[in-house]
Amino acid sequence: MPSILGADPGRLADECVRAGSAGADGLHIDIMDGHFVPNISMGPPFVKMAREETPALHRSVHLMLTRPDLYINDYIDAGAETLLIHVEADCDVVEALKAIRSRGIRPGLVINPDTPVDPVFEIDPGRYDEVLCMFVHPGFCGQSFIPEALPKIRELRDRFPDKDISVDGGIDDSTGLECARRGANILISGSYLYHAPDMSASISDLRSSAKEAMTHSQTGGA
Ligand code: DX5
Ligand code: ZN
Repeated sequence: MPSILGADPGRLADECVRAGSAGADGLHIDIMDGHFVPNISMGPPFVKMAREETPALHRSVHLMLTRPDLYINDYIDAGAETLLIHVEADCDVVEALKAIRSRGIRPGLVINPDTPVDPVFEIDPGRYDEVLCMFVHPGFCGQSFIPEALPKIRELRDRFPDKDISVDGGIDDSTGLECARRGANILISGSYLYHAPDMSASISDLRSSAKEAMTHSQTGGA
């Protein structure tokens, strides 16, 4: 799933279309408030534009906001189909998950590289469909992957055999494989995919090596 933060900012509509044409399973859209993270990015109009340009491409919206609860309806109205909120946010996370579910889209939880899995396990798993593990401190694309966070993928996969476990930050063909081996099934990638000479080839390479790694991990290998 390409992260649009890694795209050419002067050609965002074309970059959405490029992700769809390259065979992506969805578009990861990073929303930043300059407070929860030290950067500012898109708002609801961007999500609306993505819906208009690439209606068939799933829109997964990653809210890096101190108060994501205040913006849930805005992003869903704009076209979010998955809404990801951080356990570290300054709001009632369970209430936010309920609000997302009540609007009929997929709620997901995000944990930062330094956050253990415990706050996720404390929440009723019926309230979220996806857990996103960050492998960089969120805010910017193009940062280095933090390998110390890798063991959390296995902890999550052992607890949730059927849930979507996604990874974001510093994902390329090699780090993506490491994540898939441990049980991640959604790989999000900004700079690696958007700067690839052939995005389509890089997506299919990433997908096939990840599928192979997942098969091995399910049969007890790697
Ligand atoms: C980081 C964002 C990521 C980022 C990924 O704050 O949440 O989605 O865009 O970019 P890369 O793959 O370049 O680390
Ligand atoms: Zn993200």
